[in-house]
Amino acid sequence: MRILHFWNLATLAAAATLAAHLPPRNYASHDYYAIHISPSTSPSELAAHLELTYEGPLGALEHHHVFKAPKHENDIVDDAQQELKKLRRKREVAAEHHPLDSIHFAQKQKVKARHWKRSVIPERQERAGPPVTDAIKFQREVASKLDIKDPIFEEQWHLFNVKNPGNDVNVTGVWMQGITGKGVTACVVDDGLDYMSADLMDNFFAEGSHDYNDHEDLPTPKLSDDRHGTRCAGEIAAGRNDACGVGLAYDSRISGVRILSGDITDIDEALAINYEMQQNDIYSCSWGPPDDGKTMQAPGTLIERAMVTAVQQGRGGKGSIYVFAAGNGAASDDNCNFDGYTNSIYSITVGAIDKSNQHPYYSEACSAQLVVTYSSGGGDAIHTTDVGANKCTSQHGGTSAAGPIGVGVFALVLEARPDLTWRDMQWLALLSAVSFDTPSDWTKTASGRMFSHQFGYGKLDAYAMVEMAKSWKNVKPQAWFYSPWMHVRKEIPEGDKGLASVFEVTADMLKKANFERVEHITLTMNVDHQRRGDLSVELRSPSGMVSHLSTARIHDDEPSGYSDWTFMSVAHFGEAGIGNWTVIVKDVKPGNLKTGVFTDWRLRLWGESIDGSKAKLRPIPTNHDDDDHDMIDDHPAHTTSVAIPTGTTPTMTSLPDDHPDRPVNQRPSQTLANGGVQTASAAPSATASAAPAENFLPNPFPTFGVSKHTQIWIYGALALIIVFIAGLGAYLFIARRKRMKDSRDAYEFEVLDGDEDRDDAGLLSGAAGGRKKRAKRGGELYDAFAGESDEDLLSDEDGDEGPYRDQERYNEKFAADEGSDAENSGGSSAGKRQ
Ligand SMILES: *[C@@H]1O[C@H](CO)[C@@H](O)[C@H](O)[C@H]1NC(C)=O
Ligand SMILES: *[C@@H]1O[C@H](CO)[C@@H](O)[C@H](O)[C@H]1NC(C)=O
Repeated sequence: MRILHFWNLATLAAAATLAAHLPPRNYASHDYYAIHISPSTSPSELAAHLELTYEGPLGALEHHHVFKAPKHENDIVDDAQQELKKLRRKREVAAEHHPLDSIHFAQKQKVKARHWKRSVIPERQERAGPPVTDAIKFQREVASKLDIKDPIFEEQWHLFNVKNPGNDVNVTGVWMQGITGKGVTACVVDDGLDYMSADLMDNFFAEGSHDYNDHEDLPTPKLSDDRHGTRCAGEIAAGRNDACGVGLAYDSRISGVRILSGDITDIDEALAINYEMQQNDIYSCSWGPPDDGKTMQAPGTLIERAMVTAVQQGRGGKGSIYVFAAGNGAASDDNCNFDGYTNSIYSITVGAIDKSNQHPYYSEACSAQLVVTYSSGGGDAIHTTDVGANKCTSQHGGTSAAGPIGVGVFALVLEARPDLTWRDMQWLALLSAVSFDTPSDWTKTASGRMFSHQFGYGKLDAYAMVEMAKSWKNVKPQAWFYSPWMHVRKEIPEGDKGLASVFEVTADMLKKANFERVEHITLTMNVDHQRRGDLSVELRSPSGMVSHLSTARIHDDEPSGYSDWTFMSVAHFGEAGIGNWTVIVKDVKPGNLKTGVFTDWRLRLWGESIDGSKAKLRPIPTNHDDDDHDMIDDHPAHTTSVAIPTGTTPTMTSLPDDHPDRPVNQRPSQTLANGGVQTASAAPSATASAAPAENFLPNPFPTFGVSKHTQIWIYGALALIIVFIAGLGAYLFIARRKRMKDSRDAYEFEVLDGDEDRDDAGLLSGAAGGRKKRAKRGGELYDAFAGESDEDLLSDEDGDEGPYRDQERYNEKFAADEGSDAENSGGSSAGKRQ
């Protein structure tokens, strides 16, 4: 038996070697450059010109190539480009085409800081109560029917829980139908995969595997702590045999790509993340930037492009499925929206719950988290395969262990429906996930499902997801809508106040964008601040759903705010998207003399197209995508929607309550921004009385009813128009005098007005022509408001603590706030009170 396996491995490994690979990189002796060039230029020509050695194409990235040169402190490509620029300026070189002109993007590679594995050492405690005898009996029947003889199957509570019946992924009913992952390949991108393990060797897929640390074909774990990838692989695809336990998809193929055990650059990670994307269907990634509560890090351009390439071309064009572990930094206030991998629209972010459906102290919350599943905490951990011929562990944990369970579930779903796209998979996950009665900020969303920042749309249920997949109608291709850059440029008030800015999406805008309904939203923003950890950001959708895009972080002392950072939310799936989207930035730490300015933001709606035949693929992202801050966007905008100097209208006087807790099982009802009331349905387990209706404008008019809201809106609009007209008049008067004065010095005029708002004020004009001019007026007007208005100060009743905490230390503080509703209650804080 064993000999046969070895023979198999040898042939597969040989096949893998045949596949085109770049020569191994040696970062000790050489520098490497990733260069994106026009197809008309040959990489060897460019190499000759730059005196670089051409290594080969950069994996699946079109027109991207890898070059090397002996180690040198300079950036050879950048130096050459600067030199050419200089010569051109001096006109010493003809302006005609030069080989360097064909470079779209070039990046000298830097050895990356190591990613963190997302396992945590589980605490050992009392195990849960005695097993339920009936459950054990049933478990044994199931095992016998499925011919499962794996020695630790009965310990694998995440598959079948006999101590807390129901607290598992509900998979046996799927296996009973013969759905076990056949024909599906998952790839564990990690620290290696022990393909010699008796539990993994049958399912190991060498062709989909590679080692980018040691530049070998097989992902052999070599370091003493290279156990993580093997443990994750066991959760997904450990075979049904006499070794250890079984994986969720025990007949699926499993491959491993090793990147976490040595120096890599963006080139390696870009190659790894879509390695063999026609063979590997799902990429399991239980790692990411440090979960230290102070890191804010996104994948580099090459990696982002590699992911987009896989999502567009992988799996025969259906799109590779990316699964990322949410992160283990919750105890230090970390939030998965500060991690550009977990908050990518292309990844499914999976967080953890423990065997009692409680929030384990480590699992990060964020608006980008789609689902949760079981992992360590509450005295137990995940039991799975370990490195060694027949070795098991009972100590796999953290969100690292949750992600691969998700991968296993998705592998089963893909066996049932191989034609699902990457977006179908996300829809199915969120629509079939099961919410549970652990208190959190559960809120009913437009999709009809409950969402909590702590638990996403709830826990994965393999049976429910596979059943739903069987009759699922594929979603139409993706569409998107980008708002213009919204310029705010205003001081963020400290403490219990906030600064809001609104963009109104009209039906017409979405129709023009061929956009039917929202899936993901992303919000890119710039905030200058002396202490990043003081900031929180929330986004209110037209239907009243609130995404907590960013939460304050106690350890994040970074003195720079957010720089073109993109937050993501999955809480708006299914919304129409039409109406006002309000972003509210707060500085939740008063009195520390650390202040800042909310500069600008841009909203992007990603969703389903109206007419799939007109949809196109998203262009490959460039690092210039957001360089157009000062350009006027082409999207026509509603004439009165934006450009309103942020926070100066009555609509801005309101901020939601931010009570970080909410009575157990209560669902906040939602009031639509336009005054319509959307009633929330009671949770299945709800016992408490209905929460008081949550008003969109609770402060300082906490008891206002809907009709009064409407009055406020009308009043606000009127006031705004009057002030606007007055302001415009004043401005025109002043501007004319000024222009007369400065007419001979246009430059100075530019300086005075140059950095005022353009595009948002341009929206005010409503006309394409002359937008820039009017925009400046709008900018002036905006400033005219600035000195007088206090109404941007959006109060919130929490006093001095930041909203939406998930930390235990806040429990007591807010325990007294029972009875208040809050869409943004911290899940775990409430959870602990149960
Ligand atoms: C769990 O699976 C069983 C079948 O094994 C099914 O009857 C039950 O409805 C599933 N649970 C959910 C929440 O779908
Ligand atoms: C959006 O807000 C503006 C004021 O900022 C208001 O005039 C407009 O009516 C609102 N639109 C909707 C659909 O509520």
